[in-house]
Amino acid sequence: MARLEGKTALITGAARGIGLAIGRRFREEGAEVIVNDLDPEVAAKAAAEIGGTSLAADVSDSAAVTAMFDEVASRHGRLDVLVNNAGINGVENDPERAADFRNRMLAQATEAMSGGPITTHIDSTVDATDEDWHRMLGVHLDGTFFCSREALKIMNPQGSGCILNMGSIMGTAGGAGAAAYCAAKAGILGFTRSLAREVVSRNIRVNAIAPGWIDTDFTSFLDETKMMIAAQTPMGRLGDVDDIAWAAVYLASDETKFMTGQVLSPNGGWHMSQ
Ligand SMILES: NC(=O)c1ccc[n+]([C@@H]2O[C@H](COP(=O)([O-])OP(=O)(O)OC[C@H]3O[C@@H](n4cnc5c(N)ncnc54)[C@H](O)[C@@H]3O)[C@@H](O)[C@H]2O)c1
Repeated sequence: MARLEGKTALITGAARGIGLAIGRRFREEGAEVIVNDLDPEVAAKAAAEIGGTSLAADVSDSAAVTAMFDEVASRHGRLDVLVNNAGINGVENDPERAADFRNRMLAQATEAMSGGPITTHIDSTVDATDEDWHRMLGVHLDGTFFCSREALKIMNPQGSGCILNMGSIMGTAGGAGAAAYCAAKAGILGFTRSLAREVVSRNIRVNAIAPGWIDTDFTSFLDETKMMIAAQTPMGRLGDVDDIAWAAVYLASDETKFMTGQVLSPNGGWHMSQ
């Protein structure tokens, strides 16, 4: 298939997980793919695996993002698709905190199922530092803004382009213990709608994907709580990376040329209104 033939796409946080799957499907559909991630070697390895090129940058670092898009302009001379996918769960560097969160979730669910009372509290917000909060908003919300702004400097003169922002069901439904993450994802949905209205006169579309629970490194710390999540999901399972990658292909292709400011939510029925 060639649904993205002739398009150049940059995907942030694409060295693994959902971003890598998007890169792989974009390549199969004929796009030139630029893999962004934090570590240059890891990004280059992922790019080689799918037949793309790579540019490392921390999306929460404004100057690094500007330099990355300058490089895109000089290497490719155009940019048709930006996927703002890079993300963190907030406990990726702290296994103890991840285990504590998971254990509290399990204990609270057990108390609830046995009729209460609830004596285990999640307490992530009262325990969060200023740095935790700013880092979460920095990677997701600042990163989405920095990359979109720099991408538009290439797309505006082209008079065409497509921006896809990675939201989450958490941006609408909320999630206990994930206030900063949910705030960032809700912000991304508002940013998507506003930017969609702003750049429609430039023939640029801006949409979001709001995945449900997807089986990646991002959710691996959940361990046995994944069974609870699967049980709460009408389709009875977590999603796989291709469940999101195919939505990205669809939104990046001309099949959705009448869609902007929308949120597509592959989530197995977990949340039915975005
Ligand atoms: N996995 C899920 O259940 C799920 C659900 C909803 C939304 N999402 C969103 O999907 C996106 C991808 O998630 P995933 O599950 O593939 O996660 P993942 O942890 O497997 O991959 C995330 C990638 O982003 C990169 N990254 C992190 N911070 C970065 C930064 N500052 N600059 C550049 N790259 C950075 C990481 O190095 C990693 O390669 C995230 O935005 C996440 O919030 C995931």
